[in-house]
Amino acid sequence: MCYQCQSPSRRSFTRFLASGAGLTVLSACTPEAPKAVAPSSAASSASPSPAAVTASAGPTAEAATVGQSPEVPSPSPSATLARQFSLDDPASRWVIVNKHRPLNPVDFVPADLVRPAVALSAAGEAALLNSTTAAAAEAMFAAAAADGVAMVLASGYRSYSTQVTTYNGYVAARGQADADTASARPGHSEHQTGWAFDIADGGGACSFQPCFADQPAASWAKANGHRFGFVVRYPWMLHPITGYYYEPWHLRYVGAEAATDMVNRGIGTLEEYFGLEAAPAYL
Ligand code: DAL
Ligand code: ZN
Repeated sequence: MCYQCQSPSRRSFTRFLASGAGLTVLSACTPEAPKAVAPSSAASSASPSPAAVTASAGPTAEAATVGQSPEVPSPSPSATLARQFSLDDPASRWVIVNKHRPLNPVDFVPADLVRPAVALSAAGEAALLNSTTAAAAEAMFAAAAADGVAMVLASGYRSYSTQVTTYNGYVAARGQADADTASARPGHSEHQTGWAFDIADGGGACSFQPCFADQPAASWAKANGHRFGFVVRYPWMLHPITGYYYEPWHLRYVGAEAATDMVNRGIGTLEEYFGLEAAPAYL
């Protein structure tokens, strides 16, 4: 199918959200593991997810192609980068966690969790990242600040048990179908790896909401995150591949080489980049 043809305009998408039909999806990060649906607005405490709509959030040509035939693997990393890191080991910067690929072991805990020296709106374990991601986050937040952009770490590491609580909260509030569009099931969240975190701008009005996509922190991260090794893991309109609606706040560390390679080649998702099948729903 042609995602670009089917993609709703920003206006229609906003209308969709306003109707309440997409409420589920938007607040995904803290709790979550979605299914391929739409976003929702506020709903849960800690997380994120708007589907907002940034001009640049639309699917790329490559993405559209892959979307047409999700089962057909696309090209992998550039030859110079070729499979340097495991896609299966949760301690690897290239681990791919999605609805088809739970963490193994499912109760994985990063061995090197640290608290990055950045502005935080998170506390406890949510203020932690693995050491590599923490160092990259410190560099990125400092660069954003130098550009006059306020950015805070809103939600980092999440243990398996925390994800149980988060996900169950979504299910209780909205039912499993809707919960799956906004929160990863336990053992299926990138937050458990220490390689991912959610950002906010410290203001709060748009935190984990679709409108966050239009805030300076999100725009800056989208345009510059690759220089520090980060990708916006769940891009606009690529939920048929990632399984999640647009989350402009959810950043995933893969290293500057790979992140920049993806940008240069117009590849929007890690599934496409590594030639893996699309994961719109749980198996
Ligand atoms: N919101 C993302 C998908 C998570 O729950 O990990
Ligand atoms: Zn997240």
